[in-house]
This record gives sequence, structure tokens and C-alpha cells, in this order.
Amino acid sequence: MTTLNSSSKVFLITGASGGAAPYVARTLLARGDRVVLTARNADRLAELEHELSAGNAVATVTADVIEPEQAAMVAARAVEQFGRLDGLVHLAGAFRAGTPVIAAPPEVYLELYRANVVAAAVVTQAVLRQMRTGPGWLVYIGSLLAQEPMPTTGPYAASKSALLAWVRALGREVADLGINANAVVTTLLDTPKNRATQPDADHSRWVPAEDLAEVVDFLTSSGARSMFGMAVPVHGRFALVPPPGAVGGPPPGVIAGPPRSAVGGPPPGTVPQQHGRVGVPEAPLAGPPAGPRP
Ligand SMILES: NC(=O)c1ccc[n+]([C@@H]2O[C@H](COP(=O)([O-])OP(=O)(O)OC[C@H]3O[C@@H](n4cnc5c(N)ncnc54)[C@H](OP(=O)(O)O)[C@@H]3O)[C@@H](O)[C@H]2O)c1
Repeated sequence: MTTLNSSSKVFLITGASGGAAPYVARTLLARGDRVVLTARNADRLAELEHELSAGNAVATVTADVIEPEQAAMVAARAVEQFGRLDGLVHLAGAFRAGTPVIAAPPEVYLELYRANVVAAAVVTQAVLRQMRTGPGWLVYIGSLLAQEPMPTTGPYAASKSALLAWVRALGREVADLGINANAVVTTLLDTPKNRATQPDADHSRWVPAEDLAEVVDFLTSSGARSMFGMAVPVHGRFALVPPPGAVGGPPPGVIAGPPRSAVGGPPPGTVPQQHGRVGVPEAPLAGPPAGPRP
């Protein structure tokens, strides 16, 4: 059992309505930190606060952190409520796949860039304005698709690739303030949310969300003091699946290689599963975005 006191660190966790947030929150709470959870989905925030049953170590704020005023309000609330802010674990992000580059409209690029890059920048500004100086920790979540994109994931891969480049620049900018900004690069996360969308996948190859949380634990600790703008790979065993045709081939039900034809979309049954929801896109690229966006 950990003891809370005014020296307990305080972290803002964005995307707190998502699949990974409960694992990250529990990990930080278990070491005695306090957390401010933020997302647009107020109902899920209230549920998570209840599930965590961590009393006054948790605060929730409903907000859209891509809006500068709302991001500033959330960061200020952390300081008002807990008297300090030590860092950010930025889990908010959006995913789309399923339409080849030749058919993807500009709006999809803009939506994913806003969700995966601009939101990170806006909330980071707000957090840094409250923190002012270190020690402090900023953590972002990238995707293996940024480094090894698969057909039909172009807009998403481009946005997460941009996020990693931005984290690298940020890491260098804040290093002299004593702040460590780094990213985790992951693949399919084993969360209840992902299992619900892919119940028949080989979950043993996914990254347990607890494992992601443990790396976040490290990146928000003094152990990461010499890491600035790094992208830490946490790929699980997914990336170890050999491409089709290699000796042994992929395990049954796991498709690791690219579709034979990217133009016009992948043939049925060959949609890559490099990311949690690639096999079953969250929403078609050409369709309306999932969830309201300002
Ligand atoms: N899940 C995976 O397999 C996987 C793999 C690789 C990388 N990642 C990355 O890891 C992070 C955490 O993953 P996760 O599974 O927890 O994510 P998630 O469940 O898909 O979503 C996290 C939260 O991000 C917020 N969000 C979604 N679209 C947004 C938008 N357009 N603008 C602002 N916020 C938006 C949503 O919260 P509200 O709508 O309530 O604001 C959502 O609950 C994400 O950055 C994700 O891209 C995940």
C-alpha cells in the first residue's frame, strides 16, 4: 500500500477513456502518484474513476485537449487540485485504415494529423506552461506502422511518423529544463477494447497493456533521466511473425505480410493486422470520423 503526500508526483493522462488508460493509471497510482484523467467521454471517465477506487489520488476532467483553452484548463486543474504537475502521459490518439492512398481524401489526413500530432502539441504546451521546469516527464505513444507502414494505413502511418519526429524535436528542446520527453512505439495492444473488435485474433502475439504501462512507468521515472526524444520499441511478439512464404510461415490466423495488391484495396482476407484494428477498420477512410470532432 502506497502513501500519498504532497511529494507524490502528479501526471496528466489524456485519452483516458481509451483501452490503455486503466493500465497506465493503475501503474502510476501503485507507485504512489496521483493522476488527472482527461477525455471527451465523461461517462467513461466517471466509470474509470470508480474502477480505480483510488480516492483522492484521482481527478477527472472532461475536455478535448486539442482545443488550447480546454488543454490549458485541464493542466491548470491538475495544479489547483494537487498543487503540482510532474508530467504527461498522452494516450489520446485516433486510428483509421482500410482505404488505399489512391482513394483516401485529404480530410482523413487532416483528421489523423490533428488527432495524433496537433493534440499532442497543444496539450504539451499547456502542461509545460504549468510545469515550467523539471524534473518532469512527457510520454507519447507511437505505432510500429509509423516505421513499417502497411497498405491502407498511409494516413495513420504518416501521422504517427510525424508524432515521432515531433517527439524527437521536443525531447531536445526540453532536455535543458530537466524534462524527459520520449515515446513508446507499440503494436496491437491487448486491451478489452481491442479484443472486442478482434475476438478471434491470436492475442498471445499482442502487447499486454500491462507491459506498455511498465515501460511508461520507466519513462516517467528517474531511470529515464538520460533519454531525450527517444522512441522505445515495445512490439511484443507481433513483429516476429515471419512474412507469408517464409520457412514455417505465419501461425494460422496471423497475416503479417502486405496484401498482393495495394491499389484498389487489399484482397479479401489479406488486410494487414499490424495494428489492433487494421483487420476490422474502426471506420472506412472515406466515411465520417468515429466520434464527434470540433
Ligand atoms: N490500441 C492499439 O492497439 C494501439 C497500437 C499502437 C498504438 N496505439 C496508440 O496508443 C495510444 C493509446 O491506445 P488506446 O488503445 O488506449 O487508444 P484508443 O482506445 O483507441 O483511444 C484513446 C482515446 O483517444 C481519444 N481520441 C480518439 N480520437 C480522438 C481524436 N480525434 N482527437 C482527440 N482524442 C481522440 C478518445 O478519447 P475521447 O473520445 O473520450 O476524448 C479515445 O478513448 C493511442 O495514441 C494509440 O494510437 C494503440
